[in-house]
Amino acid sequence: MDKLIVEGGNRLSGTIRISGAKNACLPILAATVLTEDECVISNVPELKDVSTMINILSSLGKKIERAGDTVKVMAGRVSNVVAEYDLVSTMRASIVVLGPLIAKYGRAKVSFPGGCIIGPRPIDLHLKGLRSLGADLKVEEGYIVASAKKLKGGRAYLGGHFGSSVLATSNTMLTAVLAVGETVIEDAACEPEVSDLAGFLTAMGADIEGAGTPTIRIRGVKNLAGASYRVIPDRIETGTYMIAAVMTDGCLFLENARPEHNLALIDKLTECGTLVSERADGVEVCRSGAPPRSTHITTLTYPGFPTDLQAQMMSLLTLTDGISVITEKIYPERFIHVSELNRMGANILLEGPTAIVKGVKDLSGAQVMASDLRASAALVLAGLVAEGRTEISRIYHLDRGYEHLEEKLTAVGANIERESE
Ligand code: EPZ
Repeated sequence: MDKLIVEGGNRLSGTIRISGAKNACLPILAATVLTEDECVISNVPELKDVSTMINILSSLGKKIERAGDTVKVMAGRVSNVVAEYDLVSTMRASIVVLGPLIAKYGRAKVSFPGGCIIGPRPIDLHLKGLRSLGADLKVEEGYIVASAKKLKGGRAYLGGHFGSSVLATSNTMLTAVLAVGETVIEDAACEPEVSDLAGFLTAMGADIEGAGTPTIRIRGVKNLAGASYRVIPDRIETGTYMIAAVMTDGCLFLENARPEHNLALIDKLTECGTLVSERADGVEVCRSGAPPRSTHITTLTYPGFPTDLQAQMMSLLTLTDGISVITEKIYPERFIHVSELNRMGANILLEGPTAIVKGVKDLSGAQVMASDLRASAALVLAGLVAEGRTEISRIYHLDRGYEHLEEKLTAVGANIERESE
């Protein structure tokens, strides 16, 4: 297993090119099941999760070619409608092949996605959305067994205990596009990744209105054609490097980023005293020399502050001149990174879904363990500013969602290396 060695103290400066969005790619790749034509998806990052989705589609019988950041899904029908446990259990997002299989082939058998370290992640809203279109869904031997003679448009209210659900909205949309009649999704997720999926489906010939708002209208069509599509840049990768610039008293230009997808973060970084300049081709983030000011964060569904940047923002807030309160409203238990940051000298107290972060002057390098994708990124950020050497193990978590992280950071001045254990 690889680990990362980070020597802290270097100021970051220069340009980082932002990759395509993992969380847009996964449902877009799954959508290719809806057509028998060829699809060409570009700006696809080289990530473990993307490979997993490609392996799932291949296991369903799709022929796939990859060249650089372009994935070509060849014309042809699937030959199998079973998505096996071995693949699905490694990535929750695999659940989004369920909708397209039911919509296009009238049946599917998809392994129940496993739990996750960031908290219980039920799929009741997915099942609710698909059932509202007439799908018959049973859970048998750890699999969701689905069938649908004729899907019929309907109303799906997808508001859950923690608000809207990104993938339940996407799964329902992926099913409704081939249903007879109109479907209305209420309390739909508004994340840019949902809009990007709607963009791809529309390019395939789907009839969708209101993606990016809480009410999405889908008028079913008979068939969907193949399409070529370019995926949006990754706003969470963007946010992670914006925070890195501030933490290292640096100045970074994030090329290809879409600042309008990170307004909640820009608002908080500005409160912390950061200079953020939005440009047509990206965003520039520079710290003004003074230590960042403390601020309070509450994670919410989009356009609120993203839960996928909570851990990284906590790393930044460990080094402010005051006390910051972080409330996690999407995954109330998503604080596995706290003990590792405290191991590096941070002063963080947990109180249920809230973390109280008392700013300290310095962090010190230590041996720490990555636990999930975003927590790992938070430890890398802490390592960049800590005194001395930080050793981060289990970085396979990072490879799931950050393309060429250590190369990108090294190119702007970081002292970071990957070592095989
Ligand atoms: C997406 O997951 C992202 N993953 C997650 O990013 C992200 O954390 C999450 O949205 C929230 O922004 C992908 O897009 C692949 P949800 P998703 O359904 O869709 C509860 C990363 O780091 N819920 O919006 O699975 C759920 O437990 C990953 O890249 C139900 O109760 O998240 C959570 O508390 C991690 N029932 C809340 O809703 C359901 O049926 C939001 O989850 C579904 C969800």
